[in-house]
Amino acid sequence: MEKNTRKNILITGGVGFIGSHVVRQFVTKYGDYHIFNLDALTYAGNLENLKDIEKAPNYTFVKGDITDADFINHLFFQNSFDGVIHLAAESHVDRSITNPLSFVRTNVLGTVNLLNASLELAKDNPNFLFYHISTDEVFGSLGKDGFFTENTSYDPNSPYSASKASSDHFVRAYGETYKLPFVISNCSNNYGPNQFPEKLIPLFINNIIQNKPLPVYGDGNYTRDWLFVKDHAKAIDLIFHEGNRGETYNVGGFNEWKNIDLTQLLCRLMDKKLNRQEGASEKLITFVKDRPGHDLRYAIDATKINQELGWKPSVTFEEGLEKTIDWYFDNQEWLDHVTSGDYLEYYKKQYQA
Ligand code: NAD
Ligand code: TYD
Repeated sequence: MEKNTRKNILITGGVGFIGSHVVRQFVTKYGDYHIFNLDALTYAGNLENLKDIEKAPNYTFVKGDITDADFINHLFFQNSFDGVIHLAAESHVDRSITNPLSFVRTNVLGTVNLLNASLELAKDNPNFLFYHISTDEVFGSLGKDGFFTENTSYDPNSPYSASKASSDHFVRAYGETYKLPFVISNCSNNYGPNQFPEKLIPLFINNIIQNKPLPVYGDGNYTRDWLFVKDHAKAIDLIFHEGNRGETYNVGGFNEWKNIDLTQLLCRLMDKKLNRQEGASEKLITFVKDRPGHDLRYAIDATKINQELGWKPSVTFEEGLEKTIDWYFDNQEWLDHVTSGDYLEYYKKQYQA
């Protein structure tokens, strides 16, 4: 079986939110693999996310930047990886609006550097695989009905989604032009432990704890499809081992929520957790200026991965949210660490909290 021949694996962005769950899944499940975790430790990358496995004998952390082609070529030459699972990226839409170029650098140039280095290794290793992790945001915005399938045309609206769409195209182009074996997955919004508190769910949990306003963009009627991060990590494991080369897989939670309804649900759960009076957290909801180019609705049709690979989400939204809230309560020190410095400056500028 091909899967047993790919044991020396590079995961990029592995101390970020999703990456840390993917690294843990691989390091703990596959004791005979060696997992290299390459991460530049930007504001979003935190070594604390993997403290529990940092001493595992089948794990090596490498600090480095995917935009540095010489460094990447050297790393690939030295370690002859059998496979790459590429998650490193600038990932926050709001930051892409204020600083699009850093998204072009990391998401486009960084990906092309990894592809070039992969070509060298693929020449001598017929089982080599480049697995690119992408987002449903490349498909643009849905109206009230319908779902994104693997055949939906790309139509990105934000600098973030444009940079991810571009990187997806490069991966596919390297497959066509140079026959690089690849697979791509496009996933919906993730939530769960270790997510940097600038994205909706962890930002609002943190703000409720601190009694700060909850900035809901526009009228709050925007819809996202939420998936618990550990279910995404399991899908990535499955696609890496069983997915068909040259194909793409959509991954989603079948779990659509309007932002305002999700915010109200979070408020109710947090009131219980904090023993606050019912309705106390809802008073923090503040409607603010809308995000420019805000996509109305994302919703994934995950039939292909379900039927071909047998994947489906294992955690209900209620269970996932409770686990997430509990994690942020039990890890206030983590929250304190990541919310100092760059993040605070950014947050203050945006909302004058
Ligand atoms: P994240 O921002 O939490 O983590 C990104 C990681 O990449 C960080 O550890 C950071 O230090 C690292 N990184 C950034 N620039 C780098 C560089 N130049 N060189 C090396 N490392 C660098 O992101 P995330 O939410 O975990 O997303 C991971 C991937 O999954 C991204 O490719 C993202 O587009 C994709 N994705 C995310 C979601 C989501 O809901 N968060 C959904 C679908 C797909
Ligand atoms: P976000 O977590 O940034 O993910 P994405 O933009 O990649 O979907 O945002 C999720 C939704 O929540 C999106 O519709 C924007 C909205 N949102 C707010 O209303 N307020 C906020 O403070 C944030 C961060 C997001």
